[in-house]
Amino acid sequence: MKYHLVSGGCGFVGRNVAKYLYRTTQDTIIIVDDLSVGTNPSEWIAVEDTFGTNQANRTEGNIEYWGEGDRVVFWKGDFRRFLLHALEKPSWLKDTFGVTRFSDVFHFAAIVGGRAKIDGDPMMVALDLAIDAEFFFWAVRHKPERVMYPSSSAAYPVDLQKETDHIALSESDIDFDHGRLGQPDMTYGWSKLTGEYLARIAAAHYDLSVTCIRPFSGYGEDQDLSYPVPAIAARAAGKETPFEVWGTGKQGRDFVHIEDCIECMLFAMDHIKDGSAINIGSGKVTSFLEIIDIFTDFAGYKPPIKTLLDKPVGVHARYANMDYVFNELGWKPRIGLVEGMRRVYDQAVRNLEKK
Ligand SMILES: NC(=O)c1ccc[n+]([C@@H]2O[C@H](COP(=O)([O-])OP(=O)(O)OC[C@H]3O[C@@H](n4cnc5c(N)ncnc54)[C@H](O)[C@@H]3O)[C@@H](O)[C@H]2O)c1
Repeated sequence: MKYHLVSGGCGFVGRNVAKYLYRTTQDTIIIVDDLSVGTNPSEWIAVEDTFGTNQANRTEGNIEYWGEGDRVVFWKGDFRRFLLHALEKPSWLKDTFGVTRFSDVFHFAAIVGGRAKIDGDPMMVALDLAIDAEFFFWAVRHKPERVMYPSSSAAYPVDLQKETDHIALSESDIDFDHGRLGQPDMTYGWSKLTGEYLARIAAAHYDLSVTCIRPFSGYGEDQDLSYPVPAIAARAAGKETPFEVWGTGKQGRDFVHIEDCIECMLFAMDHIKDGSAINIGSGKVTSFLEIIDIFTDFAGYKPPIKTLLDKPVGVHARYANMDYVFNELGWKPRIGLVEGMRRVYDQAVRNLEKK
């Protein structure tokens, strides 16, 4: 029997990974989340019907058991407390979950939020430094078979993403080996850059198999409305007029659907063990005005645009150079922009009908 651990497993990426592992393996998946942002399994399990029920099989203290054979175990609480228990009492994982050694560990517990959080409460986001440090401290002692650390495109130097001067960001634009690191995006980017550094140390000094990824703008049907894609879709479904956009709307991102993200992440874990990172993106930049255009096309109307120039917008253009992943590793996304946005829009319409 294999056991996988998904920290932040009730968040956007984490719950999609948990569902994927449940569907594609017979393994036990242990989810840890404090629900500060994430949603209780009863909500997403019921929505997706992955486990065929919206009731936990049983609950013991802060632990819920879900799915056939209790294969999904949800430990509700702060991941740092979970790690502390595991460090203080070596038999705790075995006594509580029957785990001697985890197979794959996905570390998604983090304070993320959209642009409003990154710029609005940077010291809260900086707590990710503490979560990541405690995570790697535990991981090099527990020695799971493999570790996934999600870095972010926010780790890239912001001076490569300016309006007047931007490039498609390549993995080598962060170069730990030669000490060429730029200024990442706020405390969020710094924590991700530091997390990557810890991942490399864990691999080189403790022989841990670690894979890092730098997802660009992941989006999907069940993403929180604090993120632009589902928020714009919901407003288009409600036929907002005039249509508000943060900043000029000319700022652009590289959008990648969550299903592609997960596929690429698992693919990367089979190929990368030394803590180095790969991009996950489409290689294309799309402005927020273009995203609004796509959604209002779906909704069948063309509203005037109202720019909200006092809102935080972040860097001007953030998009991936996917040459290494496409050509050397041989992975490509399957879900095109319009198809992915259509899925999000259809979900937004369903949500509106439920209200
Ligand atoms: N979504 C993307 O496009 C994207 C892009 C780049 C990187 N990432 C990275 O992927 C990871 C997951 O992102 P997400 O989009 O799913 O974010 P999310 O906010 O939806 O998920 C994070 C989860 O962690 C939980 N959490 C936070 N602090 C915790 C703690 N101390 N203990 C236990 N649980 C805690 C939250 O409740 C939430 O469920 C993050 O590290 C993020 O930086 C995501």
